[in-house]
Amino acid sequence: MTLERQIIFKTKGVKQTRSLGRKLGKLFQKGYVILLNGDLGAGKTAFTQGIGEALKVESQVNSPTFVLMSVHEGIIPLYHADLYRLTNATDVEDLDLVAQSSEGVLVIEWPERGIEVLPKDHVFLDFKTLEIEDERSITVTVVGEKYGEMAKRLESYG
Ligand SMILES: Nc1ncnc2c1ncn2[C@@H]1O[C@H](COP(=O)(O)OP(=O)(O)OP(=O)(O)O)[C@@H](O)[C@H]1O
Ligand SMILES: [Mg+2]
Repeated sequence: MTLERQIIFKTKGVKQTRSLGRKLGKLFQKGYVILLNGDLGAGKTAFTQGIGEALKVESQVNSPTFVLMSVHEGIIPLYHADLYRLTNATDVEDLDLVAQSSEGVLVIEWPERGIEVLPKDHVFLDFKTLEIEDERSITVTVVGEKYGEMAKRLESYG
């Protein structure tokens, strides 16, 4: 049976989303795959900037839409991919993101472009815009044994 745990956070304003990214980013390790799901402007890149802070990356984290994946050197490297422009899973498969990022943390925006070719074990974050301005709900689902330790520590944040 696949180990699965879920926890819901709420943020108000971009700063809170960034600091949640920083907080969770401290739990991320080499080989982790983090999938960020949610509409345009939901806060996926803002969250990734927080991960970048946690990993003490030197370069600026922004939307990698034009390069599909950018690499930021840090405590461990941050691989930041944005699949928005891709239309089918074969294109995603051809990018071979997982093999390329094995030495670092892989963060993917718009994973639904190729969810079937991405690892079944992953940390999935679902960003939702709420009725109240600047509020977001961020549901974190941790799937797989590999992330068991992280899931335990995450629960103590809840
Ligand atoms: N609670 C919040 N968390 C994150 N961003 C917020 C929040 N409230 C307002 N915002 C605004 O929403 C926008 C989020 O932009 P961001 O680039 O992070 O979205 P995204 O999910 O990466 O979008 P895209 O799919 O286009 O890449 C920013 O302009 C930010 O200021
Ligand atoms: Mg983005």
